Amino acid sequence: MGSLVAALAAGNFNDLTEITWGDGRGKILEKGKGLSLSLDNYSGSGFQSKREYLFGRFDMQLKLIPGNSAGTVTTFFLSSQGAGHDEIDFEFLGNVTGEPYTVHTNVYSQGKGNKEQQFHLWFDPTTAFHTYTIIWNSNRIVFLVDNIPIRVFNNHEALGVAFPKNPAMRVYASLWNADDWATQGGRVKADWSMAPFTASYRKFNTNACVWSAASSTSSCGVSKTDSVNNAQTWQTQELNANERNRLRWVQQKYMIYNYCTDAKRFSQGFSPECKHSRF
Ligand SMILES: *[C@@H]1O[C@H](CO)[C@@H](O)[C@H](O)[C@H]1NC(C)=O
Repeated sequence: MGSLVAALAAGNFNDLTEITWGDGRGKILEKGKGLSLSLDNYSGSGFQSKREYLFGRFDMQLKLIPGNSAGTVTTFFLSSQGAGHDEIDFEFLGNVTGEPYTVHTNVYSQGKGNKEQQFHLWFDPTTAFHTYTIIWNSNRIVFLVDNIPIRVFNNHEALGVAFPKNPAMRVYASLWNADDWATQGGRVKADWSMAPFTASYRKFNTNACVWSAASSTSSCGVSKTDSVNNAQTWQTQELNANERNRLRWVQQKYMIYNYCTDAKRFSQGFSPECKHSRF
C-alpha cells in the first residue's frame, strides 16, 4: 500500500525524485515543492524519479529560461535503461531573446526514434509556469500542454511499428548545452556571459503504475480522494471531440516539423503509422 500512496502523492520532489548530476547545479527548493536546474559553461544538471513506472499520467509544471536561452535544452521525459531503450520526450530548445522556444517531441521504441514532431507555443513559456503532460498507456501516448493535446502517438504494433510498453521507464529532467544543434540548426550558440541559465520545475504529479523490479509486477494506485474514474482515465484516454479540435488547432497553427511529412529525409517512404494519424 505504501507504494500506491507515494505514487499518487501530489508532487513532492524530495519524495518522488533525486538529483542525479550537476554538482550542486540542481536544487530542491521549498521543502520539495519546487526544483531548479542550472547550466553554465562547465556543466548542466538533471534529476530522475526514484521509481520506475509502467504506464501512467505524468504532469510537470515548468518555467523555462528567460531572455537569451540559445543553445540550451531543457527536458522532461520518460526513459528505460540499456540498449534498445524506450523513450518519450519533451525537449524545449532555447532561442535568442524575443524568438520562440521550440517544443521537440519524440518517441523511441526498442532503441529506434525518428518520430519527431516540433511545435512553437501559443504563449511565452518563460514568464510563468505551464503544465506539460505525458499520458502513456498501452494504446497510445498523448503529449499535452496546459491540458491541450498537441500530439497523439497511437499503438500501431499491428502495422509492425514498435510501441513502448515494456520495460518500465523512469521520469527524467535535465538542462544541458546543445549549442551544436539546438538553436536555429546550431547556427546560434549559447552566450555564456548570461550564465548560469536556470529552469524551474514544480507540481510534479504521477498518476501511474509503479513497477517493482523485485516482483516484476506493477501496482496502479487509486487514491482515496480521487474517484475511480478520475484517477484511472489515463488508462483508456481517448480524445473527445473538443480535444480532437484542439489537437487539430495546435497541429495546424503551431506545428513546425513533422517526421510524417519530411519526404526528403524519408525518401524511402514514411513509417507505416504516418498513414493512420487519427485526430
Ligand atoms: C528560434 O527562432 C527562429 C526564428 O523565429 C525559429 O525559426 C526557430 O524555430 C526558433 N527555435 C529554435 C530552437 O531555433
